[in-house]
Amino acid sequence: MKVLVAFASKYGSTRGIAEFIRDKLRDGGLEVDCLDVRESLNCMKYDAFVIGSALYVGHWMKEAKQFITLNIGILSSRPVWLFSSGPTGDKQVNAKGQSLLEHAVSGPVDLDDIERGINVREHRIFFGAFDPENLGYFSRQFFKTDMMRNASLAGDYRNWKEIETWANGIGQRLKDEALAPVMR
Ligand SMILES: Cc1cc2nc3c(=O)[nH]c(=O)nc-3n(C[C@H](O)[C@H](O)[C@H](O)COP(=O)(O)O)c2cc1C
Repeated sequence: MKVLVAFASKYGSTRGIAEFIRDKLRDGGLEVDCLDVRESLNCMKYDAFVIGSALYVGHWMKEAKQFITLNIGILSSRPVWLFSSGPTGDKQVNAKGQSLLEHAVSGPVDLDDIERGINVREHRIFFGAFDPENLGYFSRQFFKTDMMRNASLAGDYRNWKEIETWANGIGQRLKDEALAPVMR
């Protein structure tokens, strides 16, 4: 059972989540690669996929979507788990009281399109990390909007326990399915 964890990350925090998932799956006895979606990847050799992207302005990074489009044939026939890394801050809800773990709130707003044609087991949103030092001019304008006004959004809010539980669940499920008798 060979698993690919593929990620799209602008500033590295999503990469960190992907590498952590790789390590947990390996601890569970699976053979796992963890690669940037921009690397030219031979997806044929993998039996299952975990694909994650950082969220920017409600969307996955375009490289992650391109990866899915390019590999749609393989991803349609093998189990796929998706994750998005985005919200930051101490609050679990936005000003309207909506959960930040809902894709309609934090993104990707077009999750239905991303999932179309692939064999998705689950999509999860994890809290991410945000360093205002990384912001360029345009991003600073975005952060002045209502959605991201709060300065306390800065920091690393990745919840490793939650990510570990998710990764272990994937590993267990893959191992159970590999052991299950083939139904004829
Ligand atoms: C300009 C900008 C826009 C963002 N837009 C969103 C968003 O729409 N939804 C969200 O949950 N997080 C958003 N974030 C937070 C990032 O997704 C978060 O910082 C993420 O962990 C970054 O991942 P990376 O370090 O892998 O690039 C935004 C951050 C920036 C700088």
